[in-house]
Amino acid sequence: KAQVNQNKDKLMSIETQYLNLFVTATEKAAYGASKFIGKNDKIAADQAAVDNMRSEFNKINMDGKIVIGEGEMDEAPMLFIGENVGTKKGQKIDLAVDPLEGTNFVAKNLPNSFSVLAAAEEDKLFFAPDTYMEKIAIGSNLPKNLVDLDNSVEKNISLLAEAKNTTPDKITVCILERPRHDKIISSLKKMNVNIKLISDGDVSGIIYIVDQNSPVDMYMGIGGGPEGVLAAAALSCYGGQIQTRLVLDADESVRAKKMGITDLKRKYNIDDMIKGDVMFCATAITNGDLANGIKDQKEFYEASTIALHKDGKINTLFKNKHKKWIQYQLLEKIGF
Ligand code: FBP
Repeated sequence: KAQVNQNKDKLMSIETQYLNLFVTATEKAAYGASKFIGKNDKIAADQAAVDNMRSEFNKINMDGKIVIGEGEMDEAPMLFIGENVGTKKGQKIDLAVDPLEGTNFVAKNLPNSFSVLAAAEEDKLFFAPDTYMEKIAIGSNLPKNLVDLDNSVEKNISLLAEAKNTTPDKITVCILERPRHDKIISSLKKMNVNIKLISDGDVSGIIYIVDQNSPVDMYMGIGGGPEGVLAAAALSCYGGQIQTRLVLDADESVRAKKMGITDLKRKYNIDDMIKGDVMFCATAITNGDLANGIKDQKEFYEASTIALHKDGKINTLFKNKHKKWIQYQLLEKIGF
């Protein structure tokens, strides 16, 4: 596990000890979902992930609140928006969770499913409604606000190519394969840009741009709002950039206003979405490009987690082994 200098805690917004605890929460959630890999049952997989994540949260000494979760109280039995989690003894922490990002991937046994969370101090995460969101994201070490949702695709690609001292045909863009993106995709093709089409999972789609082993330079297109905040949390730790704008129909506009969003067409840059310190954890469920999935062995399971802490400057791929829950139960029962 991460080597942590406890003395540094005073300088940090979120105490570093929380990172290991949050990693355990995504590991347990991932393990729960992994039992449903290839079972063609998205709902059961999601429920298992939610149950495990929630029970881990409630062991943590924190005064936690879900600000992005499985839905609103009446529609989600657990980890709903506004739900309090933790023992209440500890730091006030806001949590954005997606216990199972890529429900189809688990149901169909496809790569790149994760259990994901982000944690920040109280009121420091964008309280995004569960709606669609336009997104454009680029990696680190690039001029601030280089690209913009209001630019044409051509302009954004040219600006990025120029900043990277290269040409559009050497740029790779990741985008969800959806009919709503046909126009963007045809503009990219005209510019001879390389396209990485993903069928789901735009949190990892965005993380590709900061992953050293992946050739992706930019992410663009419309995906889930909650996933946008989670991806922004990861990018905030890596030093990448993202700009977003909510996509709202009439009902959703009313809901967004009720949540306190006054300017519905506002563009949010990364610092508008993630204010201050943030932690991000993503445990792979099925094998993927960014990490290996849950390895279920006889007595143990092994989990790989991307664990990031902005202020702690921690960027680690944790690999942990956990003794299976059932074994603990059994040992207790027979008196060990
Ligand atoms: P789920 O895990 O909830 O199924 O979401 C997967 C996902 O692909 C997200 O990564 C993405 O933001 C969103 O769905 C896109 O939504 P849609 O499938 O409606 O285009």
